[in-house]
Formats: sequence, C-alpha cells, structure tokens
Amino acid sequence: MFAYDKPYVVNPSAPAESLEAKHAQPDNGLDVPSPDRYYTREFMDLEWRSLWPRVWLLAGVTSDVPEPGDYTTFQVGHESIIVVRQDDRSLKAFYNVCPHRGNRVALNDMGSASRFTCAFHGWQFATNGKLACITDEESFHPDLVRHRPGLAEVRCDTVGGLIFINMDGKAPPLLDWIGLPKGYIERYRIDEMNVVRHVVTEWRGNWKVGVDSFYETYHLPHIHPQTQGVMEDFSQYDLYPNGFSRMIVPICTKSHRIGDQETVTPDLQYMMTEAGMNPADYHGSAKDVRATVQAAKRARAARLNLKHYEEFTDGQLTDSWATGLFPNVQIGMHPEGVFIMRFLPHPTDPERFFYDNMTLYRYVDDPNYFVPGWMGLPKDTDVTGATRPAIERHGVDDRADLGPVLNQDVELVAAVQQGARSRGFRGPLWSEQESRVRHFHRELDRVLGLKP
Ligand code: FES
Ligand SMILES: [Fe+2]
Repeated sequence: MFAYDKPYVVNPSAPAESLEAKHAQPDNGLDVPSPDRYYTREFMDLEWRSLWPRVWLLAGVTSDVPEPGDYTTFQVGHESIIVVRQDDRSLKAFYNVCPHRGNRVALNDMGSASRFTCAFHGWQFATNGKLACITDEESFHPDLVRHRPGLAEVRCDTVGGLIFINMDGKAPPLLDWIGLPKGYIERYRIDEMNVVRHVVTEWRGNWKVGVDSFYETYHLPHIHPQTQGVMEDFSQYDLYPNGFSRMIVPICTKSHRIGDQETVTPDLQYMMTEAGMNPADYHGSAKDVRATVQAAKRARAARLNLKHYEEFTDGQLTDSWATGLFPNVQIGMHPEGVFIMRFLPHPTDPERFFYDNMTLYRYVDDPNYFVPGWMGLPKDTDVTGATRPAIERHGVDDRADLGPVLNQDVELVAAVQQGARSRGFRGPLWSEQESRVRHFHRELDRVLGLKP
C-alpha cells in the first residue's frame, strides 16, 4: 500500500489538473544530514544570517487587522515586527523598534492605535511609520535628526488572508515564492475566518524537530494510537517547488492497520454527528463513513447556501490537507476552519522553540452546523468572531494542556532533541513517508548555501 517506489495516493482517479492529484515527485536523493543542525549555535547563527531574513514569513492573518490603525505584532527570534492597517486599507510592516534608543514601540501583541508612542521618552510615529513628534526636539542637534527618523519598514504582502513579511526585501514576489498550485490557499478564504484561539507554548527542541514531527503521519500509530479509529496514517505526500509541501490525511476512516473495517465505532458516529447526520440512521459499514460524511456536508452546504463548498473536492470535506509553507509553517486546512502552526526559533537557544497555534473558524449560524471536534476548543469559546481572544502563553515548564495528541508530541519532541546530540546518532534516515521532511531540509540546505 505504501512502497518507497509506489507512494500512497488518496484518490487515484483525481483528474491531473485537480488540486487533489498526486504531484510529480522531485528526486531529493538519499543524503543523511549531520544532526548538528538541530543543536549547534553555529547552525543557528547561519539560519539567522541566511534563512530568516531571506524568506517570506507568516506574520499574521488579515482578520486580526480589519480597520485602519489595527496592528498585530510578530515575534521571530530576537526580532519583533508590527503589521498595521493603513488609512487606504493597505498593510505596512515595521520593525518594532524605536529609532531613538531601540525600545519596542508596540508592547502589546495586538491593538489599535492612531499613533505609536514610545514608552521610553515619548517619541511618536504615525501608523505609516513616519516620525510624528520628538519630545523636546530643541535639545537635539538638528543634524542628528534632520532625516526625521521613523520606523524602519519591512516588506509586507498578503495572500488569501495570510500576511507575510520579508526582512531583507530581496525575496521573489510572494506569489512567485509560494510553491503551491495556483489558488490553493485562496480557495479556503481564510480572510473570512476569525482567530478563535491562539496559544503559544515553548518546547524543548530545535524548531526543525518540530517541523519534522508535524510533516509526517508515519508516527501516528506509535505516538498517537488513539487516532487509528478515525484516520488513515498512510497520507498522500506532495512536494512542491521552493520547499512547499502538502499531505492529505484521510479522516472519517479507520487506519488500514485495524482488522475490523466494518463496525461503526462511537468515534466514527461522532464524525457523522458533526456533519449534521443522525448516526442512528446509518446502517452501512465503517468503510463507507467517509463518503457518507462528505455527501452529508455537501447537502448541508447546499441547504445553507455555503457557496465556497462548491470549490472543494469531496476529499477536502473530510480530510486534513496539511500544507507546509517553507520554512516554518504548517496549516491544517478544512472548509470549516484552519489550524495554523508556526515553529518559531528561540532568540538564543537552538534547543528551544515556540509552537504558535492559531485556530481560525468561519462562523455559520445554524443549529446543524458544528465547530469541528479536531479544533479541540475549550467550552465557552466564542466562535462568532466577535472577540479576538488574547494569546495564551505557556512556558517550557508549565504543562499546558494542548489536548491529548499535542501533549504526546511535546514529550516526543523533547526526547528526539536529546537523541540528536548523542554520539551514537548518525543522522536521520527518512522513508518515503517522510518525504516532506527530506524536501524541507533539501530546500533549507539550498537557501543556506550548503547544497546547490
Ligand atoms: S527609545 Fe523611544 S523615545 Fe527614546
Ligand atoms: Fe504527532
């Protein structure tokens, strides 16, 4: 079912031009990289010189900055960037640093401002970054401030509701750099979704150990055995240009590793309920639940006049299209909402990273339309989009409850990080089920100038 020379395909009859079709595989070779990329300061410094400033980084989502003056800040390593909506409704980004003495000018994660006022000595900046006022300006020699020091601008662009920044200003245009098929992100209409939960936790691992573990479902039966009743762990892995990739994870189906493929379990019944069905009315086999749920969602969308569903394949209605944006993002994409994970490097420690999770939901006001269980939202979460929740932050030692699956990943990442340093470990041996991981490192090596 999944051989190194015959990868798994979810829907072999998908037309070649469909987004679901298996994408031609590049030959990424069989190199085994040295594990020092996961723990040395040298490699971390190299990434700071040659990776983070050179790529487009996902800085936020447009629904967080709907009105002029609305801003959000984005932390990556030691940098902080402000993204702010302009009066003409365009977006601009600036380094969050005062040109006077370097203080942060925005101290909140997000907010709304008519001007940014530095808390240290009160210099003020317009939302377009221009200097508005220097406190006691007559005490500065005019030559020192003649250039009217404002906020340093960072290149900023958006696609389909996602905001990206590029620090060195030299990356190709955003749409050329995104290696995914045309329209792939846009059809989810993330700009119509709202953040309903945002959690940032610090993990004991290099940011790439995080990316590696979320880029494959090979580990599911071992680390997350509870998922076998509702999802297949053979995924379809597709590799796109510029280090981008995708895996299609079939959901509403039992893993092929389970012998009984007939009995409809409570887990599968729950999936039917979520799609607005009454499971008691279903008398078929477990094997047909996925198609049945797809049909139920399709019918519900027609009833509720949810036009965007028409653009999705049947598979997209049930499965997770986990999509990797090089270098440090994966988005679990579903018609009802998306789960954005960013793997953000620690400012000083190569063996720590921040796992930044935004759950976005498109609110539909109907008693038969439910927030999907995979979102794992706490009870009483406001899903209407009326309030943007504050970021929940958890340090490395407080055991944030991220839900059973992510809690298992936290432990896993810490143990893998320790192994990376062992004299006995020669470097990762990636199977074709881990082809996305190899693809990611291949592109990383290219961007860092380690490989042609
Ligand atoms: S550092 Fe910002 S006003 Fe002095
Ligand atoms: Fe996992």
